[in-house]
Amino acid sequence: MKLVNPDNCSVCVVGLGYVGLPLAICISNNKFSYKTKKVTNRNVIGYDKSCKRIEDLSNGIDVNKEVKKSILNSSKNIKFTFHEDNLSDIDIFIVAIPTPIDEFKVPDLSSLKKACITIGKSIKKRKSKTAPIIIFESTVYPGCTEEECIPLIEKHSDLRHNLRDKSNTFYCGYSPERINPGDKKNNIENIIKVVSGCNEEITQIIDIFYSSFIKAGTFKTSGIKVAEAAKIIENTQRDINIALINEMAIICEKIGIDTLDVLSAASTKWNFQHFKPGLVGGHCISVDPYYLTYKSEKLGYKPQVVLAGRNINDDMSKWLVNKIINEISKKGINFIECTVLVMGITFKENCSDTRNSKVVEIINLLNSYGLNINIFDPIADKNIVRDKYKLEINNKFKKNNYDVVIVAVAHDLFKSYDLNFWQDLVTEETICFDIKGIVPREMKVLRL
Ligand SMILES: NC(=O)c1ccc[n+]([C@@H]2O[C@H](COP(=O)([O-])OP(=O)(O)OC[C@H]3O[C@@H](n4cnc5c(N)ncnc54)[C@H](O)[C@@H]3O)[C@@H](O)[C@H]2O)c1
Repeated sequence: MKLVNPDNCSVCVVGLGYVGLPLAICISNNKFSYKTKKVTNRNVIGYDKSCKRIEDLSNGIDVNKEVKKSILNSSKNIKFTFHEDNLSDIDIFIVAIPTPIDEFKVPDLSSLKKACITIGKSIKKRKSKTAPIIIFESTVYPGCTEEECIPLIEKHSDLRHNLRDKSNTFYCGYSPERINPGDKKNNIENIIKVVSGCNEEITQIIDIFYSSFIKAGTFKTSGIKVAEAAKIIENTQRDINIALINEMAIICEKIGIDTLDVLSAASTKWNFQHFKPGLVGGHCISVDPYYLTYKSEKLGYKPQVVLAGRNINDDMSKWLVNKIINEISKKGINFIECTVLVMGITFKENCSDTRNSKVVEIINLLNSYGLNINIFDPIADKNIVRDKYKLEINNKFKKNNYDVVIVAVAHDLFKSYDLNFWQDLVTEETICFDIKGIVPREMKVLRL
């Protein structure tokens, strides 16, 4: 067997979600390597186990709204499939499969393991003379690729990993994904990509591969575990930073001062870090720290700071609901008659993703008091919200009609509303809770 030529090979992206689809499209549309300055010639297969997802993508529809119809339709160098049979002669697999946590906050690797079995079986049927490379992009704990994924691929392929003589072997790498769905500025091409491989030669090939389509370039790590750990600490650091500011917001409320005023003042110091209080949901920042603590506990060390941060961020929705319910009670509004407008239900701004959205938690808690809730979110997918959470999005809302307005997500649309809009929506009597701090400061509203 010989080694893969990263500029001239077949590529399969396994899992076409928020991470996999934009990546597959980017690779398929890349015609010229930024690194080698050579023309690239790659066939790209986008594989997803969901027939519905494949049907949608083949019709130019990305329900996640990350890739536009015009781009999907004009990307001719990619074939979407849910048939495993189409994966037998792939040189480079890229794995972008979900890695959630279960109800006990323990890593749930079931989908990732299934994908490894699919890949193992596919490379077993391989006729090509090149040794395949499997690159994992899913967020995992340090050690997961080597301890969980590689043994499974070996078992189902009958090949051994990382043999020197390149026969009957396959190679692996890890390159964490840093994309930020909904963020049109920081996209795949202009975020530096951390890359790693199972040996120096493979790291070099993986590096050439990614730097062919990542304009910002790459950063090679000394090994797979280092790259896995780098991704986890990036997200854990963000979680803890936000937790600290959330804790400060709780303290500021007790003191009776505005947290954003405090942060504006503190931010004038050269080394003060800019973070705002807020809800931490989604499937990355609110999940990845548990991957780190899981691994750490397996090794006999119980992390303290990481879990403390998690607890604070996890409890923010309850704290907010208590605060809102107290305000409603203080005004003597009957819960059954109380009308509430929730602006935004996604887990973050400008992104349709509602997985682990803390706003859903807030709505469910408020619903348990019998309040009448109108959800306004033009970015979230109504059908997903209905199917998954049994909640209705109603994008029609009346001005000056609500006892409570909760500004939960900072979508650009909401940020574009001027003072007149807010003055029409919120009267002196309205309890307006601006979680994201986007309502003009002239308005008398509650903030985090
Ligand atoms: N979304 C983000 O912002 C982001 C950013 C960085 C890293 N990540 C990480 O990337 C990984 C993927 O996340 P995502 O948000 O793209 O997930 P996603 O849920 O949007 O998409 C995953 C896709 O994989 C498919 N799938 C599941 N099991 C499969 C299998 N066995 N074979 C083939 N397809 C399968 C699903 O049908 C789905 O379409 C996760 O580990 C996540 O933590 C996500």
